Amino acid sequence: MNYRFSSRVSQLKSSAVRDILKLTQGKDMISFAGGLPAEELFPVQAIREAADHVFTAGTGALQYGLTEGYMPLREQLCERMAAKQMHVNPEQMILTTGSQQAIDLLVGVLTEPGDTVLVEKPTYLASLQVFALHGLKVIAAESDEDGIIPEDAERLIREHRPKLLYAVPTFGNPTGRVWSVERRKKLLALCKQNEMPIIEDDPYGDITFDECDQYPTLFSLEGQAERGAVFYTSTFSKTVAPALRSGWAIGDSSVIGMVAKVKQAADLHSSAIDQQILSQLLKGFDLDGHIRLISKSYGERMIEMHELLKRQGLQDVSWVKPKGGMFLWLELPDGLDAEALLRCAVQKGVAFVPGSSFYAEHPQRNTARLNYTYNTGARTKQGVERFVEALGEFTARS
Ligand SMILES: Cc1ncc(COP(=O)(O)O)c(C=O)c1O
Repeated sequence: MNYRFSSRVSQLKSSAVRDILKLTQGKDMISFAGGLPAEELFPVQAIREAADHVFTAGTGALQYGLTEGYMPLREQLCERMAAKQMHVNPEQMILTTGSQQAIDLLVGVLTEPGDTVLVEKPTYLASLQVFALHGLKVIAAESDEDGIIPEDAERLIREHRPKLLYAVPTFGNPTGRVWSVERRKKLLALCKQNEMPIIEDDPYGDITFDECDQYPTLFSLEGQAERGAVFYTSTFSKTVAPALRSGWAIGDSSVIGMVAKVKQAADLHSSAIDQQILSQLLKGFDLDGHIRLISKSYGERMIEMHELLKRQGLQDVSWVKPKGGMFLWLELPDGLDAEALLRCAVQKGVAFVPGSSFYAEHPQRNTARLNYTYNTGARTKQGVERFVEALGEFTARS
């Protein structure tokens, strides 16, 4: 049979990261590609104890649950959000299958095919896949070390009238950048003036290397959920474990209600057992202490990779030391195509993500994203050596 795929999916590109991850399954391959947390830091024992507790509570734990998610976990998350000056009630929150699903559902209820979405340049790769699936045009505003440049965003809004802004203002993926408070306020005001909702995606905000560095979310700066412009989403993937596939979104209750309707059609609800385990975990386990522990370790791993790269004295390779998150964003020599470099690097046994994957259009090809959280010690050292060797050979050849 000849299958005729819908026009929305026939244009879809597979995620470069997922494709690379397939290539990197071999034991000898050192991967700086995925945004993977350190496995040895997963709170395995605490998750096991929480799961035991849930199962001993009875068979009801295995029943269907609410589309909006397990109420006790929503209440606990409302408290955690309030500690960050984000005040919501459970009706203004929905639990999702990772924050990836929150992005997809929000985009689905806030846009029509053919609409335009404004993003930062560069931006999270899998958000671009969501926009493509929903038939959206993507326009990207220039950004610098302080985040999106408001004047460029303003120009694009005037020219293209985008329906919404998607942003990762704190420790962005791929760049690790943090928007300054001034930029946050300017962008918020700009979007509100233009009646543009914002999806504020914040998976990395908790992973800060200096506890004194606190960045207000766009949601907290706006200070209102009902009829507000900001829809905030976050996840347990980076702070507990991605396999639990648990994220959440907060915002105006009518939009969250609409998201719940779409979610009913998509999957009825996310894993109720995982949500109960997380709820139990939040009762008996010091999650904030755990977040401090992983942040400290990730900060050390970032320094480790930064020092190793610095010691190589690489010509025309630059990066900014991130203050949190999971990635180093490298600018490679002018004219170098990081996709071609990747092929050479994979032969040497190291993988990374070429920066071009993070651009909706006009990619800056001489960029690369390196994850520093998954590996440590000898593997990081060997991976950096392989990367530098590949870079040396590649630049000598071209
Ligand atoms: C910026 C950003 N948003 C969303 C996600 C999705 O995370 P999850 O669906 O695991 O919560 C990721 C994962 O790496 C990410 O980097």
